[in-house]
Amino acid sequence: MSDARLLSALSSLSHVAKQLEIPPPAAPELDANCVKLNMNENPFPLPAIVREAAIAAFERHYLYPEDDNVGLREAAASAYGLSADQVIAGNGSSELLGLIYNAFLAPGDVVAMMSPGFSFNRKLAMLHEAQFLEIGWGKDHSLPTHQLLFGPARDAKFVVLANPNNPTGTFVPVADIERLVAQSDRLIVLDEAYVDFAPDNGLRLVNRYSNLLLLRTFSKSYATAGLRVGFGFGHPELIGRLRTMQNLFNMNVIGHAVGMSIIAHRAAFEENHRQIMLERERTSVALSKLGFTVLPSHANFLLARVPEGHDGAWWQATLQRQNVLVAFFPEKGLENFIRITIGTERQMDAFLSTVSRISSSSI
Ligand SMILES: Cc1ncc(COP(=O)(O)O)c(C=O)c1O
Repeated sequence: MSDARLLSALSSLSHVAKQLEIPPPAAPELDANCVKLNMNENPFPLPAIVREAAIAAFERHYLYPEDDNVGLREAAASAYGLSADQVIAGNGSSELLGLIYNAFLAPGDVVAMMSPGFSFNRKLAMLHEAQFLEIGWGKDHSLPTHQLLFGPARDAKFVVLANPNNPTGTFVPVADIERLVAQSDRLIVLDEAYVDFAPDNGLRLVNRYSNLLLLRTFSKSYATAGLRVGFGFGHPELIGRLRTMQNLFNMNVIGHAVGMSIIAHRAAFEENHRQIMLERERTSVALSKLGFTVLPSHANFLLARVPEGHDGAWWQATLQRQNVLVAFFPEKGLENFIRITIGTERQMDAFLSTVSRISSSSI
């Protein structure tokens, strides 16, 4: 039976909203024992001192968080060698990506992303009715600077690139990015979500170039994907524009306190990063022996081409039936790949033995 009131209300949806698929009413429940390697989360426990900060913050649950995240922005500024007006704090870096799209795009504008890249950008472009230009990585996943400067991306309002990149895990030298930023009069958004697992980072470029916006998140290297802490660094004018557009009280008191505590105790995470990098190497070698071709990764995940015979979708579904979750991307060019987050030694053992079992039974 049709509901006339609902139909009438829905008829007012914007045409962009009409194009979006409504998520299913209930996501399938996760088995608590599954080996979850599909979302680049960091499964290591937080240092006790950071946990204590979270618990203490809970006592302030009835208060609004600090206006404009002043304390958190100041702490991040002093840790990263910037001033507070060069820093915006976000409810995860995805909030900040959204703000950038809000601030810079009107319908019909062009935005360019290095591709394959973080697919959330595609959705943001669609929400803004922008043309989404995907620029392929160069040979050996290098940055095609000339193409970005003089090809169709020349007309983009901004260019987004992640370094290390998701989903490839590949890393381009910061000098190449600097060359692009220096020669471009466009805004370049450098998303460094995975940079703490990489050999270098672009922080030093922030004070050199006013057309650079650098994004960081604590979701991956600081194990707080569920608490939502991210930062944007850039020229005070750019950052100020984004801050004026931000939601009131965008973060919560726990995320705020945990962010402050992580900044004060960053050294306590070094062992976590070291272990992830060791497991990354071990998993990469073991997967290669099982017939996978693994891209060199500088992130907390691996992108692996699956052995001939089955595609990435088959591997993802087969692993999932055995309670091991990995990511698969249906887009063109990635059909034969799966992306595996690097977890604990135990999780990687479970993953590798499941892959090995599947490989020997599907010959
Ligand atoms: C490249 C990249 N940027 C940003 C994000 C968003 O991270 P956050 O949890 O800070 O919103 C992700 C998450 O997967 C990512 O892969």
